[in-house]
Amino acid sequence: MERFGPAPAPDATGIPADRAARRPFAVELRRSRQVLVVPADRTILDVVRDAVPGVPYSCEEGYCGSCETRVLAGIPEHHDTVLSEDERRTGRTMMICVGRARSSRLVLDL
Ligand code: FES
Repeated sequence: MERFGPAPAPDATGIPADRAARRPFAVELRRSRQVLVVPADRTILDVVRDAVPGVPYSCEEGYCGSCETRVLAGIPEHHDTVLSEDERRTGRTMMICVGRARSSRLVLDL
């Protein structure tokens, strides 16, 4: 299956609107035993790629499902078009290329 959609429109500063109101949070990679900070201007995937080589991804826009990652603790904020409403509610997985955190810390199965 292929999914297509427009990229988020930039705001007056040139930053995509979906990134403008972001705040930093911590991500614990349980298997790698690392705790990383995801700054407001970077994605979880960006930060994780720096620390863990070989993390799968493709579209980086939340529609292919390649980066789906199990969430062990914390509350994910979903911005993908892959998960169903039920899957979003359970918060067991997330697309780390676009997802953020509603809690101050997420624990991921990476
Ligand atoms: S890389 Fe495609 S959904 Fe994350």
